Amino acid sequence: MTDLHTHILPAMDDGAEDVKTSIDMLRAEFCDGVDVVALTPHFYRHREDPEKFFRRREKSYAMLKAAINALKQGEKEKLPELVLGAEVAWWPGIADMDELELLCIGDTQNLLLELPFAPWDAGIINNIYNIMGKFGITPVIAHIERYLHMQSKSVLRDIFSLDVPIQLGCESLLHPALRGTALKLIKRDNAHFVASDCHNMSDRRPNMKPALDVVYKKFGDDITDSLLYCAESLAKE
Ligand SMILES: [Fe+2]
Repeated sequence: MTDLHTHILPAMDDGAEDVKTSIDMLRAEFCDGVDVVALTPHFYRHREDPEKFFRRREKSYAMLKAAINALKQGEKEKLPELVLGAEVAWWPGIADMDELELLCIGDTQNLLLELPFAPWDAGIINNIYNIMGKFGITPVIAHIERYLHMQSKSVLRDIFSLDVPIQLGCESLLHPALRGTALKLIKRDNAHFVASDCHNMSDRRPNMKPALDVVYKKFGDDITDSLLYCAESLAKE
C-alpha cells in the first residue's frame, strides 16, 4: 500500500515537529500495511524560493534518514520505503516555474498540487493544462473533498474532465458527516486514490487502513484494488 500524501518530514512544515514524531508516524503507516510513503511537505512559492525549500527538505530528510539508520536492524525493517516529493500550492505563475519537475514525487513526473481554497476560474484550469503541455508533468489534485463546497458545478465538471489523478483524503471516509460525499466521489470515478495527508500522531494521524476498510466494505475488491494500484503507480512510475 502506498501513502502518496504525508507531512512526515521532521520540522519542515505544520507536520511532524521532530524526528521522534516522524518515526512514530512511519511505524503507524507500516502497521497499517503501508510499504511506500511519499514525503510531501508544503511548498508555497509566495513564501519561499525553491532553492531554499530544497535545502530545507534535504536537511530534514537527512535528519530522518540518520534517525532511521540509528535504529536496530529489526526496527528498520518495520518501516516503509520513502520517496521525496512536495505538496505544491498553486499560484498564478506555476506554469512558468523551471524547477517544477524537481518538486515531483520521486523520479516520476507526478506533481501533488494543492489548489486554492476559493472559487476556481478558467485561469486555473488553463494553468493546469499549461503545466501538462509545457513540462509533460501530470498534476495530481490533492484532497478534492476540501474544495467542493466552494466550486460551481461547471468548474467541477472541467476539473473532472481534465483526466488527471485526483486524491481523496482518508479523513473524509472516516468522518460520518463526510463519508457519503467521499464514497460518491469514488463511485463516480471523480477520486482515483486515497492518501492520509497525515500531519502528526494525534488529530491528523496516519489512517490508511481504516479508510480503505470503509471503501472495501462499501465497494469490495475491484474498486479498492484500483485505488491502491493508482497510488502505487503514481509514486513509482
Ligand atoms: Fe497536505
